[in-house]
Amino acid sequence: MQNSRDQFSSQFGVLVAVVGSAVGLGNIWRFPYLVGVYGGAAFIIMYTVFVVVLCLPLMFSEFIIGRRTQRNAFGAFKVLAPGTGWWGIGVLSVVASICILAFFCVIGGWTIEYMIQSIMGGFSTDHAVLDQKFDHFITSPSRPILWHLLFVVLSAAIVVAGIKNGIEKYNKILMPLLFLMIVLLAVWGLFLPGASQGLAFLFKPDFSKITAGSMMAALGQAFFSLSLGMGCVITYASYAKKDHNIMKVGSYTCLADVGFSLLAGIAILPAVFSFGVAPNEGPTLVFVILPRIFAQLPFGAILAFIFFVSLLIAAVTSAISLIEVITAYFVEELKLTRRTAVIITSSIAAVFGCLSSLSMGVLKDVTIFGYGFFGMFEYLASNVLLPIGGLSIVIFIGWVLKKNAVKDELSSGGLYRVPLLGSIMFILKFIAPIAISLILLNAIGFLRLF
Ligand code: PHE
Repeated sequence: MQNSRDQFSSQFGVLVAVVGSAVGLGNIWRFPYLVGVYGGAAFIIMYTVFVVVLCLPLMFSEFIIGRRTQRNAFGAFKVLAPGTGWWGIGVLSVVASICILAFFCVIGGWTIEYMIQSIMGGFSTDHAVLDQKFDHFITSPSRPILWHLLFVVLSAAIVVAGIKNGIEKYNKILMPLLFLMIVLLAVWGLFLPGASQGLAFLFKPDFSKITAGSMMAALGQAFFSLSLGMGCVITYASYAKKDHNIMKVGSYTCLADVGFSLLAGIAILPAVFSFGVAPNEGPTLVFVILPRIFAQLPFGAILAFIFFVSLLIAAVTSAISLIEVITAYFVEELKLTRRTAVIITSSIAAVFGCLSSLSMGVLKDVTIFGYGFFGMFEYLASNVLLPIGGLSIVIFIGWVLKKNAVKDELSSGGLYRVPLLGSIMFILKFIAPIAISLILLNAIGFLRLF
């Protein structure tokens, strides 16, 4: 059974797949609007510090767990800590994947709609019209659901084909394409009149903007954007070979993810400034503000199309990693075939996704703890499950797994050097658990620190 397990064909294959998972709606849809809402460069600095200090060691930890055991997130803990309750992290991973899929695929569907709109008729230049159109679209009970289902089917089709022939193959085609398109859009952004204001906003920090709220948003964004704390990296790492340099892959992933976010910021924020729009619009930035800007530009329809195709690619390559977390669990623990596992997984995603799509309109009044389905899934995943998952994983590697095992895995059995092992262990043992706990307790309201 272990030998017949599918694997990535090369280290580069692992890298593009993990980067494909990390770079998603979080980078292109969420990052620019969070930067807008939380005050520009100050947010970027906090985000980058969290990525380097907390997320990189957590990324290494997930790689260790996955590659060492060659099992899904649930099975991995049963192998590493038999007879204990650590497998709970695996259960949490599956639940978190379902929650994220439930809102992520809905936005994936919106992206398809806007991609089509950008070439069919274009966008209005009137803010009120665009705003109303977006609102009308997302609250409708049919179109967004149809696109959402198409998005789920597209993603599922890639996962059914397997690791090497599905996930790796499509990431290898789609990620370079995404990179080219984002670079093109960023270069275009730089040449717009008024771009310098946007750049100043992105790169000149205003330290008064560093508050408790913005710090929490930055940490939440770092986890979400790097696909950490919910078994995704564990699962992908389980398909890496024993001689792959996981420290290198983990570090490059963090670098690529921050790089993509900055490129997306450079593509979007100068345009926002050059049209005199306030950057703090929130989630509707790319669906309301950007179309209006595209509509006023020469070649705007083409640029808009490229933008929404990029968003779609970014979303699909992340959605497949979420589907894989659950699929791997079903295949290995419940002994289902891959096809059946993917069908069940995508059906679950589709049902919850429909609920969250409908919560924009007909199910608006159904609320749980004050949130509609869409908001609840997003809140639960980003603010509760990911931090709890991340916290448990750093504690497991810092305190439960033997240091020798950590070193052995990070060095791929002595093949590579492990720089800064002492610092990494110190962070995993002390700094990360304390920092994540404080932020988590504060987020769920147990502690009013800030
Ligand atoms: N990292 C993805 C993004 O930035 C989202 C994601 C989170 C994917 C968790 C998988 C797991 O859009």
